[in-house]
Amino acid sequence: MKLVTFFSLKGGAGKTTGLMSAVSGLRMAGYRTALLEADKNDPLKFWRGNAMENGTWDADCKIFEATTGKEMAASYASAQRAGYDIAVFDAEGGESDVNTDAILSSDLILVPLALSSFDVEYGISSFEFAREALEANGRDVPIAFLICRFPAAKSKLTKADLESFEILKDLPQVSTRLPSRAAYADMGTSGMLHLYYAGLREDPALRVTSISIKTALEEARSLAADITDGLEMEQHNADPKH
Ligand SMILES: Nc1ncnc2c1ncn2[C@@H]1O[C@H](COP(=O)(O)OP(=O)(O)OP(=O)(O)O)[C@@H](O)[C@H]1O
Ligand SMILES: [Mg+2]
Repeated sequence: MKLVTFFSLKGGAGKTTGLMSAVSGLRMAGYRTALLEADKNDPLKFWRGNAMENGTWDADCKIFEATTGKEMAASYASAQRAGYDIAVFDAEGGESDVNTDAILSSDLILVPLALSSFDVEYGISSFEFAREALEANGRDVPIAFLICRFPAAKSKLTKADLESFEILKDLPQVSTRLPSRAAYADMGTSGMLHLYYAGLREDPALRVTSISIKTALEEARSLAADITDGLEMEQHNADPKH
């Protein structure tokens, strides 16, 4: 089983959102995906609760507790025994022992960040934090930025946004980006993107909404492909159900 950690020292960077999109993408590609919840605010359990109410939770995606290093190790072992292909770790904001344990056990680390100069600076510090922890432990693990929350329309990008893109352009990053979309902001309540979309598609009155969600879904699919590429996993055939 491979471990992917969504990490940032900054709160509200997009860790949970990036992870939720990735889970949909990975499920659409047929990967069995386990979720490791480190954040004591339980965002993943809230997501599951809302999704189950809406019929948009994939029952094979189990959430494992990972609020301490010990719990994290036990959960990782359970998920591996249960035959999951990939586990995704939702780090809590900031520095913590369990975050560092996850970084050191990861096969890939994604550092989400928005484009304000503050977010970029904080994102770069987060990247360096992970890199130094890995280096101190003799581990060579890919770390990449995941750029989130910028205007989806090119014409709406500010000068500051373009400057941030310029700063980030030579730094390691996944090719997929997650611009600001209602589909992402709503995911915590609507549930898993691909299952939510499947429900909307069946209702002709909601076809217009479903078109905007489809764009987010394509990004989720592409993010999952970036992740499995980063993990050097063999590509699965897309799950014919989706
Ligand atoms: N691409 C996006 N489009 C729209 N909203 C987004 C996007 N990315 C993140 N958000 C919103 O930004 C807020 C912070 O995102 P998120 O909760 O994913 O960050 P986080 O790093 O997990 O935060 P925390 O440190 O609190 O765990 C949320 O309200 C989320 O819905
Ligand atoms: Mg979070």
